[in-house]
Amino acid sequence: MSSGPLVVLVGPMGSGKSTVGALLAERLGAPYRDTDADIVAAEGRAISDIFIEDGEPHFRALEREAVRVALAEHTGVLALGGGAVLDEGTRALLAPHPVVYLSMDVEEAVKRVGLNTARPLLAVNPRRQWRELMDARRHLYTEVARAVVATDERTPEEVAQAVLDALELKDA
Ligand code: S3P
Repeated sequence: MSSGPLVVLVGPMGSGKSTVGALLAERLGAPYRDTDADIVAAEGRAISDIFIEDGEPHFRALEREAVRVALAEHTGVLALGGGAVLDEGTRALLAPHPVVYLSMDVEEAVKRVGLNTARPLLAVNPRRQWRELMDARRHLYTEVARAVVATDERTPEEVAQAVLDALELKDA
């Protein structure tokens, strides 16, 4: 496949996909796109409402379609929702693309996400919940990724540079 995104970012919530994605887009002189935002725009409701009203399997199906369309249309930087890799069909769609996994360790996750009440997934016992989440997902992020970039104690600019280096992409 010759076209498609220059970079696709995956990784857990709080790993900096949107911040780093926007910086990468600026560096590459390319547009930024985010499949969570595509789903919200298409559905006209918040992701949390889709989860509550229709359940996670329905959200994952919407997400698979949003990823399929974005991979076909978008030629810039694309960020996916943190759970997109849970879906086997979504993982298959990602196979030919330059996917980068933004990783972070448990302490960094607790610092960035654990105390954020807008992300109730980690609200009760952040460390344990993070470990469980990552035990279920880590191998899936690694499976779809061409490169893994650790974000711990790095600024978004440093992470963006590491992504460019990992994919051997040049600035615009
Ligand atoms: C999710 C992460 C969210 C969003 C949804 C589910 C997850 O995206 O897609 O709330 O399962 O980890 P971010 O990673 O952009 O927060």
